[in-house]
Amino acid sequence: LKACACKKDMKGLKVLVTAGPTQEAVDPVRFLTNHSSGRMGYSIAKACMLRGADVTLVTGPTRLTAPIAVNVIPVISARDMFEAVTSHSPDMDIIIKAAAVADYRPAKVSEEKVKKSDDNASLVLERTDDILRYLGEHKRPGQFLCGFSMETEHMLENSKKKLEKKHLDMIAANNLKVPGAGFETSTNVITIITPDSVRELELMSKEDAAFCLLDEILARRSRAK
Ligand code: CTP
Ligand code: CA
Repeated sequence: LKACACKKDMKGLKVLVTAGPTQEAVDPVRFLTNHSSGRMGYSIAKACMLRGADVTLVTGPTRLTAPIAVNVIPVISARDMFEAVTSHSPDMDIIIKAAAVADYRPAKVSEEKVKKSDDNASLVLERTDDILRYLGEHKRPGQFLCGFSMETEHMLENSKKKLEKKHLDMIAANNLKVPGAGFETSTNVITIITPDSVRELELMSKEDAAFCLLDEILARRSRAK
């Protein structure tokens, strides 16, 4: 009920949110992935919808039910996510990249199931495209780009580097080692970093963290006008 009563301060804004992990195929029965649950991204998509935005959610495979009244585009791999995101991005006012995109994929996907042998096995990996970096390099004037950063050490320093390298307006950093933060939890502890500010939010639900993040984004956008 509290959510329904929230102010519609995102009316008329087109927002693209990405969420969840990607899966990178090894063979027809195996893939590489990570522990992302998708909860942070889904909470952001829902909060944008409740605040009146026109929301597109590009999501990797998760166990979550997508929020109503959101345009959901399901994808599997980093390559699929790149295609889906870049085909919709030119239209968007705000892009929030909460997805945990694989950095590497198997260089060759075996058409048949790989059989075990008595020897050690190894997998040759190749880099995926950095979707966020591409978006930063192709950002149109007035478009707001917010990334996420997952670290286990040197969170501030590493996240600031990502903000700069990817030409972002904001990055929401979280340290996996802080209690209550991370992939599988319903809470998070995020630090909101912009080129000239750092604000650490307290431990809160991912739903509340989503609302706070949007408050910060809207405040920044109106200041930039
Ligand atoms: N990201 C992306 N495409 C990739 C990898 C990451 O769009 N191929 C985005 C994520 O969605 C996130 C941001 O980049 O918003 C940061 O992701 P993160 O994994 O924390 O950082 P990386 O830049 O990938 O660096 P590293 O994993 O080495 O820390
Ligand atoms: Ca990464």
